[in-house]
Amino acid sequence: MLPLNRPPLDPYPLSPYVDWAGKRNRDPLLEMFKQRLPKNEGHVLEFASGSGMHINYFAPHFQHLNFQPSDMNSEVFENIRQLTQETETKNIQPPIQVDLKEPQTWSVLNGKEFDAIFCINLFQVAPIAIADGMMECTANLLKKQWLVIHLRPV
Ligand SMILES: C[S@@+](CC[C@H](N)C(=O)[O-])C[C@H]1O[C@@H](n2cnc3c(N)ncnc32)[C@H](O)[C@@H]1O
Repeated sequence: MLPLNRPPLDPYPLSPYVDWAGKRNRDPLLEMFKQRLPKNEGHVLEFASGSGMHINYFAPHFQHLNFQPSDMNSEVFENIRQLTQETETKNIQPPIQVDLKEPQTWSVLNGKEFDAIFCINLFQVAPIAIADGMMECTANLLKKQWLVIHLRPV
């Protein structure tokens, strides 16, 4: 049964629903990341960063890692940057525009390699075919000891 305080589902990236779901899930996700993310220096990419609430919450816990936010929608970048400034987080790069259904946008990632790539709360607002784009795009980005994590709210 769904919790009574759950706001209505709304696909807008900064909606009350996404905020509510993100805050509810971020600590269990953080615990999982503590187990799964590289223990040594490395690079981590997030797809569909939206408001940036997750990457800004996780990054301070992994000072040895460098985090790269991205989204197809550049309108969300200001919010991501603002959160990074507010939290004075030093290991988050400026956001980049990557649309998982538009391969021509992936060139911004050319020459980069990541130890882990994660994506939270995307498939419930995007066509499932986007999974093909995600796999294709990540194929050349991940180092050998790779990890792809997609998470969605329940
Ligand atoms: C529901 S929000 C989730 C945002 C964030 N991950 C979170 O959990 O708070 C979905 C995000 O996916 C992005 N998005 C939708 N389709 C996308 C695509 N084809 N490629 C990249 N990002 C996409 C939207 O712009 C939006 O920011």
